[in-house]
Amino acid sequence: MLRDIRTDYQKFELNESELEKDPFKQLALWLKEAIGGKIPDPTAMVLSTIDQNGNPDSRVVLLKELTPVGLVFFTNYHSKKGKQIEEHRHVSAVFFWKETERQVRIKGIAERIAEKESEAYFLSRPLESQIAAWASPQSQVIENRQVLTNNYFRYQEYFKNKEQKKPPHWGGFLIRPEYFEFWQGRSNRLHDRIEFSLCENQWKIQRLAP
Ligand SMILES: Cc1cc2nc3c(=O)[nH]c(=O)nc-3n(C[C@H](O)[C@H](O)[C@H](O)COP(=O)(O)O)c2cc1C
Repeated sequence: MLRDIRTDYQKFELNESELEKDPFKQLALWLKEAIGGKIPDPTAMVLSTIDQNGNPDSRVVLLKELTPVGLVFFTNYHSKKGKQIEEHRHVSAVFFWKETERQVRIKGIAERIAEKESEAYFLSRPLESQIAAWASPQSQVIENRQVLTNNYFRYQEYFKNKEQKKPPHWGGFLIRPEYFEFWQGRSNRLHDRIEFSLCENQWKIQRLAP
């Protein structure tokens, strides 16, 4: 029964004494531990955006860079999320690492990264992924799967004797966080929750009840 599935979290604690005072450092630390723990897709995060009716819309994307100012992921700018971000810059992102019993919630403002940076990352991807980015009109309705495979072979042929380049509608977004919450599962549902809110360029740190 679904109602009987539950976990008692006992692996780690999150105490103010060990907490990084910079939330980027805390996120980097937890990411490092998730990556080190051989967790599948440790960089996967649920990204929520706001659609044209003001409704939330969520999907998984992969974090590709954690910079001193934000989180970078890559996508098709013409996709649903791409268009939604252009209209409403506020987004949220959630990481959940069940192996370390941790969740990180982030709220921030997204913006496109520089074309040059997107180009550099695009060209570092495997050739198959590059061709797929050209072949897939992400989020558009297609007649059947054949459309996709036909597109793929067409672009594969096209780029056979040409230098690869990035589709103009493909690239990165940088999320500049204004809020982080670090959640560490604890025993008896008495979890640790510590939030960082940006107030006048300073991170205000507070503990929340679970
Ligand atoms: C593990 C995982 C990783 C994904 N990574 C990405 C990604 O980095 N970029 C991306 O555009 N879509 C990624 N996707 C696909 C998205 O979840 C989504 O299906 C797609 O981007 C279309 O979303 P949209 O129609 O809301 O724009 C990933 C999906 C999964 C399950």
